Formats: sequence, C-alpha cells, structure tokens
Amino acid sequence: MQKRVVVTGASSGIGAATVRRFAELGWQTVAVARRADRLAALAAETGAHAIACDVTDEAQVAAMAREVVETGGADALVNNAGGALGTDSVETSSNDDWRWMFEVNVIGLRTVTAALLPVLRDGIRTAEGGSGWASILNLTSTAGLSAYPGGSGYNAAKYAAHAVTEVLRLELAGEPIRVMELAPGLVHTEEFTLNRLRGDAAGAEKPYENVTPLTAEEVAHVLVGAFEQPPHVNQDLIVLRPVAQSSVFHTHRGPLSAKA
Ligand SMILES: NC(=O)c1ccc[n+]([C@@H]2O[C@H](COP(=O)([O-])OP(=O)(O)OC[C@H]3O[C@@H](n4cnc5c(N)ncnc54)[C@H](OP(=O)(O)O)[C@@H]3O)[C@@H](O)[C@H]2O)c1
Repeated sequence: MQKRVVVTGASSGIGAATVRRFAELGWQTVAVARRADRLAALAAETGAHAIACDVTDEAQVAAMAREVVETGGADALVNNAGGALGTDSVETSSNDDWRWMFEVNVIGLRTVTAALLPVLRDGIRTAEGGSGWASILNLTSTAGLSAYPGGSGYNAAKYAAHAVTEVLRLELAGEPIRVMELAPGLVHTEEFTLNRLRGDAAGAEKPYENVTPLTAEEVAHVLVGAFEQPPHVNQDLIVLRPVAQSSVFHTHRGPLSAKA
C-alpha cells in the first residue's frame, strides 16, 4: 500500500527537498506552506497534493486536516515549518520576533500535530487500507540543543520544540506511533538566513563561506531514511552536522586535511 505523508514548510529549502525525496521513493505527499504558487510548482513536479495553510492559524490548520482526510488521510507527518528572526541578544531582541518564532516553531507545530493525530490514528485503525503504524518527525535544530550568543529567541523556540517532541513521545507511549526529531546544524538553504537577517543578502552568505555546509537534499535523505526504517524503529533524535562543524562554536573554515 502506498504511504502518505504531510510535510509542512514545503514551499522551500528542507521541506521542498523532503517532498521530492518522499515522492522519489514512492510515497504520496501532501505539501503544506503559505505560498500557494510555490506549492503549485512543487505539485506539478512531484505529484504532491498542495494545501496552502498558515500553521499559526488554527482555523486554517483545521481546514488543512479536513482536506488531508478527504484526499486520502495520512500515515506520517513532518513538522518542518519554522525559521529564525534576528540575531540580537536576549536583552536587545524584540518580543515581536520572539512571538513570531514561538508561533511558527512551537505553537504551529503543536497545532498541526494535534489536528493530524486523529487522522494518523484513523490510518492505523483502518484494517484494510491502514498501515497499522504512524510516524511523526519534528525538524528542530542544533540551536535547540546548544545555546549560543545571539541565538536568544530561536534557541528558546527550538529548545521548546525539542521539549514538545519528548513530551509527545511519552504521551503516545503504547500507541504504534513513532515520534522522531531531526536536529540539523549548518544547512545552506536559499531563504533561512536571508529571512533571519531580514533580507541582508551579503550577510546571509557569511555563515557558509569557506565551509561545506549540508544541503537541503542531504538533510532530506537522512530525514526520509528515518521513515523508511521498519516501523517499530524510532530514531528519537538525529543530530546532523557537516564534518567541518564539530559544535555550534567550532566551524572549521578552509580545506579539511588529515594531520601529518
Ligand atoms: N537552514 C538551516 O541552517 C537550518 C538548520 C537547522 C534547522 N533548520 C530548521 O529547518 C526547517 C526548514 O528550514 P529551511 O532552511 O528549509 O528554511 P526555509 O527555506 O526558510 O523554509 C521554511 C519553510 O517554512 C514555511 N513556513 C514559515 N512560516 C510558516 C507558517 N506560518 N505556516 C506555514 N509554513 C510556514 C515556509 O513557507 P511559506 O513562507 O511559503 O509559508 C518555508 O517553506 C525550519 O524549521 C528551520 O528552523 C534550518
């Protein structure tokens, strides 16, 4: 039976690459984000079912969940929609930025999860069509595991998303639903740092200078690989960094070479 996955934040970067990878491996995909034009292009390319939805709007999320049911249900969910705004300190950052980051990275993740859990359970229970298992993966970040100066609201939001993932795994104990987390380090996507720096294109390239970061496609391969494991295999937390980045504080710039 063909499995069906809902991917949020599918209009760019890691989310779009994740939809492409699932589709390559024969999954049915539902691509969710706010920008309908980008989703339409991805749908034309991959066969995804596109649903324009702001994950911070509860009514839109409820409508999205209904559309998922009406178009075939779901066995899997990737909560990927998210982002960072600003690099200011705790002292100088703005509450509006913090609110935006908490809305999308934490509360949006919770809203989508709550709306789709009944849909995932229906998929499990439907004896003939259902797979008997369901999977959820939350895309957090190494910023949710290690704080750094200027991380402030993004650190706080991703730590919270990490905590939500752990709580959910405990609360779903006894159900055939795996709850996984992927925490990437430096990934070069088109929009993530550009949005964080409010459109400063030159500044947005700096983190990727003289280093080979991860690509969205590389993250997507590992992410989808977790769903391709036998369904009882739960990769609780996958931390994924480029070799040159041994921690949030240690990024080697320049060529890598073996010690003499
Ligand atoms: N790039 C990195 O270095 C990195 C590292 C670790 C973790 N991450 C995390 O990985 C995820 C994807 O990052 P990325 O690099 O692929 O960034 P990206 O290209 O900026 O993608 C973010 C996605 O989230 C969607 N989104 C934002 N707000 C939304 C909302 N309110 N409702 C629905 N969708 C929303 C955006 O689509 P619309 O604008 O069309 O809604 C977009 O598709 C994020 O959670 C990010 O925090 C990124």
